[in-house]
Amino acid sequence: MIPLARPTLGQEETDAVAEVLSTGMLVQGERVARFEAGLRERTCRVHAVAVSSGTAALELALEALGIGAGDEVLVPAFTWPSPAHAIRRRGATPVLVDVDPDEWNATAAAFGAARTGMTRAAIAIDQFGAPARHPEIAEALGDLPVIEDAACAI
Ligand SMILES: Cc1ncc(COP(=O)(O)O)c(C=O)c1O
Repeated sequence: MIPLARPTLGQEETDAVAEVLSTGMLVQGERVARFEAGLRERTCRVHAVAVSSGTAALELALEALGIGAGDEVLVPAFTWPSPAHAIRRRGATPVLVDVDPDEWNATAAAFGAARTGMTRAAIAIDQFGAPARHPEIAEALGDLPVIEDAACAI
């Protein structure tokens, strides 16, 4: 087996988990509020909401946009499967967008070319943490909502 990545975990992380366990509050505790505040600040966003997984975050974002049956959502062809799974869970159709062979991210031109009259949203992904060209993608897609999946970028 060749691992995709090896997490770097030490005493600091072990202590942090033990500290949370010792509070007896395993959901929505003080650590979660601190994490959300730190993430909001670090990413210069107005809101940050912690959920249980990246897949859950994608499903919630799609639900918030009202994505459902008959809708198409653009998603890069080269990535982890859960963005496409989240689209299917909403009953919508994932439309795969080619990626650039050097950057590994879907390009603005490819997103623009994949858009049809049924497209209701796009998911742009920072593949393996390499930033997608979000301003160019947003410009190419105009008023189409773009979900930024930064699961591997944070
Ligand atoms: C681009 C991308 N989006 C979403 C996810 C899903 O995250 P999770 O495993 O926390 O559901 C991953 C997981 O690797 C991912 O790489």
